[in-house]
Amino acid sequence: MTLAADVREGLSRSPKELAPKYFYDERGSELFDLITTLPEYYPTRCERAILNRHAPEIVAGMEELVELGSGTASKTRALLYAMAGAGSLRRYVPFDVDGSVVALCEEELTELYPGLAVHGVVGDFEHDLGRIPAGERRLFAFLGGTIGNFHAAERADFLTRVRALMDSTDRLVLGTDLVKDRATLEAAYDDGEGVTAEFNRNVLRVLNEALGADFDPDSFDHVARWVEESSRIEMLLRSVREQTISIPGADLEVSFAEGEEMRTEISTKFTPARIEAELGEAGLALEGLLTDPDGLFAVSVATPQQHPHR
Ligand code: AVJ
Repeated sequence: MTLAADVREGLSRSPKELAPKYFYDERGSELFDLITTLPEYYPTRCERAILNRHAPEIVAGMEELVELGSGTASKTRALLYAMAGAGSLRRYVPFDVDGSVVALCEEELTELYPGLAVHGVVGDFEHDLGRIPAGERRLFAFLGGTIGNFHAAERADFLTRVRALMDSTDRLVLGTDLVKDRATLEAAYDDGEGVTAEFNRNVLRVLNEALGADFDPDSFDHVARWVEESSRIEMLLRSVREQTISIPGADLEVSFAEGEEMRTEISTKFTPARIEAELGEAGLALEGLLTDPDGLFAVSVATPQQHPHR
């Protein structure tokens, strides 16, 4: 779906909703990078510690890195270093919705590893996975806990489609945030400096720029809440007053009541059992589940099941 169609659909729903992939224009990617350095936001730090510690075993035998949702690729460096160090790195395929980020990855890594083939793909997971070049001994990396942005049915669909792309020699490395106490979770999505609040409001700036909308980002409060029944953090924007927004690019006028909340992101948190079950449903066998010393975050390694599950 296009941005305009997505926005029309999401804002016509009750409660209103916007897809988190629209956070990531250039400013959104920068704000997210800043989030990853905040003391409250543990996932990136924990995942990096796991990857640094276990990179050699994760990349063993792999010749290609296919990075789904590459961001600015800082976490993946550990995997690339390990592959380069083992002398096995042949190709790097960064895949992201933000073209500026893919271009940056291509540039930096070509410079760092002169012989390396870099094949960037700009696209989203719904439509463009098929543009990933064929190969073998490919390490598919989906890190950062981004799979938590998907609803259960979307996760099943995504994992099944990734599995279908995989050769028997390929491997998947998946980052997932783990269930923990509410205070830790809510602080990670509502930091003291207000960076996450700015990141959340940035989606309104994206709509202003891309669709000529007239959102006043300051008229929405940032909300982050742990919803235990759904095992997820929800980020919302709460209208501080009654207001009507016009979105010409989506041919839409939309009213918000005072205090009305619009959901902008879900970030699902997992138990190890759930990770294994969801991988298994998609035909992926869990080889190992690695965590940081505090057990806050998990990095799972999986391979295509020899005998398809269904
Ligand atoms: C990039 C989707 C993994 O869900 O933790 C960070 C995005 N949102 N702070 C996450 C995010 C608010 C992040 N992911």
